[in-house]
Amino acid sequence: MPDRPVQPPLILVVDDEDANRLALERILVREGYDVRHAEDGRQAMQRLREEPPHLLLTDLKMPGMDGLELMRAARAVDPDLEVVLLTAFGTVETAVEAMKEGAFDFLTKPLKRAEIVRTARKALEKRALVTENRALRDELARALPGEVIGRAPTMRVLLEEARQVAGAQASVLLTGESGTGKGLLARWLHKVSPRRDRPMVTVNCGALPENLLESELFGYEAGAFTGAKGRKEGRFDLAQGGTLFLDEVTEMSPAVQVKLLRVLQDGEYERVGGTRTLRTDARILAATNRDPELAVREGRLREDLYYRLNVIRLEVPPLRARRDDIPLLARHFVARHAERNRRAISGLSDEALDALCAWDWPGNVRELENALERAVVLCRGEVVELSDLPPAMRQARTRPAVLSFAPGTPLKDVERAMIEATLEQCGGDKALAASLLGITARTIYRREAEWREEEGTGAPREEG
Ligand SMILES: Nc1ncnc2c1ncn2[C@@H]1O[C@H](COP(=O)(O)OP(=O)(O)OP(=O)(O)O)[C@@H](O)[C@H]1O
Ligand SMILES: [Mg+2]
Repeated sequence: MPDRPVQPPLILVVDDEDANRLALERILVREGYDVRHAEDGRQAMQRLREEPPHLLLTDLKMPGMDGLELMRAARAVDPDLEVVLLTAFGTVETAVEAMKEGAFDFLTKPLKRAEIVRTARKALEKRALVTENRALRDELARALPGEVIGRAPTMRVLLEEARQVAGAQASVLLTGESGTGKGLLARWLHKVSPRRDRPMVTVNCGALPENLLESELFGYEAGAFTGAKGRKEGRFDLAQGGTLFLDEVTEMSPAVQVKLLRVLQDGEYERVGGTRTLRTDARILAATNRDPELAVREGRLREDLYYRLNVIRLEVPPLRARRDDIPLLARHFVARHAERNRRAISGLSDEALDALCAWDWPGNVRELENALERAVVLCRGEVVELSDLPPAMRQARTRPAVLSFAPGTPLKDVERAMIEATLEQCGGDKALAASLLGITARTIYRREAEWREEEGTGAPREEG
């Protein structure tokens, strides 16, 4: 690292067994790291807030909050925190699940010194990279104030609505599939509102266990629970005069929902363990990628709270419902990631663009951005080529035809169109097409012969 005096990275070790914890601590200290430890999840969260670590090394199986829950909670506080899990034989499956959720790695007990040191070093390197990238990203975001790209008709309507409600006090519920841009739109709403010079505070309600969410939102008074040394301000306090963004809002426990309802109705709340009534004027934005009406019907979301949140509803359409925006978004992401990676890439080939336009984007704009970030890194030329895209997308170039027939269309014609379209989709594989259509491959051969006959072309006959 450059000339700045470098502070040793801070590692938090969490294990309920003293011997393990001490052994780990000794190994890591000898490597020059700063180490803190905790015996359980609750204590770990406490430490984590007092002194944010760069790496969390936690046992998976612990009484109370287990390692996976701790990871989720910790990453809600610090999304860049790298996590390494320590697992015993038999818990590897959970560790794999944790990896899918973003853990850096897991180590299986009995732990080996060299392995611990190597994994910690790699995790910290990644953390440093991510932080750097984030700083760069923030710089970019400031340069282009959270540009929401959308020229497709559905997006124009949405953005116009958003502009109209940006200055209001009423709460807004943002809905839409994962990755459609709800978070971005929420930030944009804040930025164009009169509250733009006040903070925007975000809470991910799905990532925190009930009691933590409550104290994050409302804060706590000294002595509210064991370990609550001083008073802590809640996010409602921090968002005074600004915007509070409640992400994954359908994931709140009933108790927290009641408290939130009260804030929405009267602007009043109390800290955990406190008796003084506090007031907030924060504007509430909420988002969910679930169906909020369904959550109400299933009893997971209070109906009265739903109505309070849903005063203004902004529904962000899935990317497949605004394909016209794909080229625009694609160029935007290529430019952004090329700049970030210091690559001289000017755009995309037509073939690559066609493939992107044909793909269905279950992960929406986030999936598109990720695909193009990867493509920019892999790209060897000056434009992103088809071969730089993820393999599945390369094959998506032919968009499945949607057939429609007017009532009264002869079934024979419907059958022919359907067989032909399916064959095309299957790359001419008759066996596959037949199994999709629920008929035999023989039937397909027979029909094809009939069609040829009708067209008078006849089956290609052998000469002689
Ligand atoms: N219209 C857009 N223009 C430019 N960038 C966009 C647009 N929509 C989304 N993005 C980018 O795509 C990524 C995903 O968007 P975002 O995180 O806002 O999705 P989300 O709807 O909040 O998803 P989730 O439900 O999973 O939280 C972000 O990097 C965001 O900046
Ligand atoms: Mg989001």
